[in-house]
Amino acid sequence: MCGIVGYVGPRPPLQVLIDGLHRLEYRGYDSAGVALVDGSRLSVVKRAGRIADLEEAVAAAEPPEGRVGVGHTRWATHGAPTTLNAHPHTDCTGTVAVVHNGIVENWAELKSELIRRGHRFISDTDTEVIAHLVEEGSDLSLVEAVAEAMKAAEGALALAVVRTDQPGLIVGARRGSPLVVGLGESETFLASDIPAFLSHTRRVVVIEDDRVIEIRDGGVRIFDLDGVEQPLVEKVIEWDLAAAERGGYPTFMLKEIHEQPQAIADTLRGRTADGGVIALRELELPEQILRMVDKVFVVACGTSYHAAMMAKYAIERWTRLPTEIDIASEFRYRDPVLDGRSLVIGISQSGETIDTLAAVRYAKAQRSTVIGVSNVVDSALARESDAVLYTRAGPEIGVAATKTFTTQLVAMQLLGLYLAQVRGTMDPGTIGLLVAELQALPDKVGKVLQTEPQMEDMARRFAQVRDFFFLGRSGDFPVAMEGALKLKEIAYVRAEGYAAGEMKHGPIALVEPGVVVVGVATDSHVRQKTLSNMEEMKARGGTIVMVVEEGTEDEVSGLADEVVVIPQSPDLLCTVTAVVPLQLLAYHIATQRGLDVDKPRNLAKTVTVE
Ligand code: F6R
Repeated sequence: MCGIVGYVGPRPPLQVLIDGLHRLEYRGYDSAGVALVDGSRLSVVKRAGRIADLEEAVAAAEPPEGRVGVGHTRWATHGAPTTLNAHPHTDCTGTVAVVHNGIVENWAELKSELIRRGHRFISDTDTEVIAHLVEEGSDLSLVEAVAEAMKAAEGALALAVVRTDQPGLIVGARRGSPLVVGLGESETFLASDIPAFLSHTRRVVVIEDDRVIEIRDGGVRIFDLDGVEQPLVEKVIEWDLAAAERGGYPTFMLKEIHEQPQAIADTLRGRTADGGVIALRELELPEQILRMVDKVFVVACGTSYHAAMMAKYAIERWTRLPTEIDIASEFRYRDPVLDGRSLVIGISQSGETIDTLAAVRYAKAQRSTVIGVSNVVDSALARESDAVLYTRAGPEIGVAATKTFTTQLVAMQLLGLYLAQVRGTMDPGTIGLLVAELQALPDKVGKVLQTEPQMEDMARRFAQVRDFFFLGRSGDFPVAMEGALKLKEIAYVRAEGYAAGEMKHGPIALVEPGVVVVGVATDSHVRQKTLSNMEEMKARGGTIVMVVEEGTEDEVSGLADEVVVIPQSPDLLCTVTAVVPLQLLAYHIATQRGLDVDKPRNLAKTVTVE
């Protein structure tokens, strides 16, 4: 996720762009840049770091003003967050500048082909291929050249492009990543999101997929990729600026819960090929090393540890490799038995959690191979690991992890299937079926989000409940743990996540009328056992909430006080769908209790102390 802005009009564009980028900083903040067109001159200024760093660079460079400019704030997906990799990117002639939000899936093929045709690349980004593709269309109008580039590029693209031979023009394009136009009096804005220009105009045009747009100070024209002009549908925004930054949601956490279908699609993008093959190109680890591994350790903290719990089941089931999981702060102090054939996977959203970093450093000292799974490109975890798999959830502002958790689950499922593929422990047909099911997850999560009114209603009734249990077995166990953690951290309610079969060994003594017991029973091979355990909770007077898959709701009709139905998915993949109603339940209980869900007490988003 990145933020792009563009401006054509009578004001000095630089300040409009910088203000817009500040408003989009929630979309990414590892580097930023602007390109300004003044007559036939193109000036590009960019910097690693926050937008304040860009402002300093701009002040020092004193670029010419002109009437047209584009800007970008980056959340890296390809290439480290350096000044060189910051956008805008330019072509060989220095006459084209491009800002991009999204992922060009076939960038490697395009780049090789463009290099073969004599183009020179200077960054590690996927975006730079777009600048060179547009350069190839120098004999076309800019709108035609961008349409051709869109046809060549696969994946998600929101673009803003300028070219010095058409100095009064920005060309935008969109497929898969958001793009909106703001219509002012004799000025026009382009952005990834409305807050970028809401202080200037409330009149917007939302751009659809596979559209190319011409933006001038007098307005906008929209075309499809074949150059056929499309109608322009204008609407007026009623939100205030603060609400607009949260996409109209009351909090960042709720926005991020609703971003999960997109975040999961981004995490999958370009990592599976036709025929169900997993292609984790960026892992850059010789397959020979993965074939040699004889034991796996997965280490993480908090929510990321719950993703590790799911990973253990997935890796053991799909690869038959013995897999241990550890809370990172415990790992090195228990003196684990590691050697050169051990694979250690560290999972950390921030990639800066000191306990997880200490665990992977310990593993490297034992000569083990380390894979980092992180949401932040070039984080300490990414740099210190032998290989890295990014989750691509985009920045998460709410302190409680939501979209970063479901994307960690998906990343670990991809990694588990990849290991099975490389080691030949699963037949390609079965991997292909699971890949197809992974691809279906964004839509299914979208469907689960429709349970929100039910979860909100439940939250109203449970807002004053003091004790919750969340129970599950197998893949449902990490989901139960995560449901309990969400409720604890944002609603300040005592909530225990437990293995359903373990309750009878002690904690069942706490179950009595007034206690709510949430059972997750989606994993087919243990469902009946979980249901028996839930009967035991009901017999002790607990209020029973069941999360089950479509087609199994009849099995719990006599047991549950509340039934939440989610779409069917294969075992382990259903962790991704099953956790969503529990996020919503915790969220709405917290808001019923009048709490600040984005900034819960005593917590920090990144924990850099032991
Ligand atoms: C819970 C939460 C924390 C983090 C934990 C690890 O919502 O956000 O439990 O999961 O602090 O953080 P990372 O994944 O950045 O290592």
